[in-house]
Amino acid sequence: MINTQIETAARLAIRDNPKKRVLPLSVEGKTYYIKRLISNGRNKLVKQGAHAAYLTEVYKIMEVNERLPLAPHIVLLTDDFFVMEACGKPLQRIVKEHDSTAEEAYYQAGVALSSLHQLGLHHGRPALRDISWDAEKHRITFLDWESEKTFFHVDARTLDLFLFIHSYFREGWDTTVYLDQAMAGYQTVAGSDERLADVLHFIDQHTLIFHICRSASSFGWIDVVSVSKAEDYLRTLIKNNSAS
Ligand SMILES: Nc1ncnc2c1ncn2[C@@H]1O[C@H](COP(=O)(O)OP(=O)(O)O)[C@@H](O)[C@H]1O
Ligand SMILES: [Mg+2]
Repeated sequence: MINTQIETAARLAIRDNPKKRVLPLSVEGKTYYIKRLISNGRNKLVKQGAHAAYLTEVYKIMEVNERLPLAPHIVLLTDDFFVMEACGKPLQRIVKEHDSTAEEAYYQAGVALSSLHQLGLHHGRPALRDISWDAEKHRITFLDWESEKTFFHVDARTLDLFLFIHSYFREGWDTTVYLDQAMAGYQTVAGSDERLADVLHFIDQHTLIFHICRSASSFGWIDVVSVSKAEDYLRTLIKNNSAS
């Protein structure tokens, strides 16, 4: 019954916002998000890519939620869009809006990422904007599961950890207190030592790339500068861990 209502409301929202891929939806006072399979349809390859990304995301969300409720709850699934429950605010906004639960949010995000990794699962690109915090339920949800990159021969969980730290530095904040919380949380879960050792190994195996990023840092490109900052942060963290 409720699904029919959500479906009708979703189809209306899509009709009114034909170009938007992700849009919020309110039904009976509850907020949801619609995510659509969109492609321009002109280029067959682009169309296939969008289709693959859509199916990857739906599959990963379901696979993760079977084990741990860390992905959004899908309430309606169709061939070209799905509707999920709203899961709070992205981690990025929590800092910008000086949310009083920010430190706890980052700590719990670290615990959640590490728990996912301990089960042998990964997100693909856990950027701050795609990690949601529900301050009322004290709950972390990872959004946007469509990314599945295999550029490097590295454990996907190791790349997750690196990309999470990289995404923090991309914000350009002058403090690492929230990242420190996230890493404290990450390290509460068994197996995190192995992940940290592996991320250092990953950096050491790709010294050329990391060296190029450092040399190019003077241009000030935020993505590149953040690679070196993430590397420095990880090296210091691991050094401090082994000293204590
Ligand atoms: N279930 C949700 N709950 C809360 N916010 C959401 C939800 N789904 C999407 N959003 C918001 O919409 C943004 C875009 O959604 P996302 O799935 O990341 O799409 P895109 O692939 O376009 O980045 C997210 O970064 C988040 O701010
Ligand atoms: Mg996103």
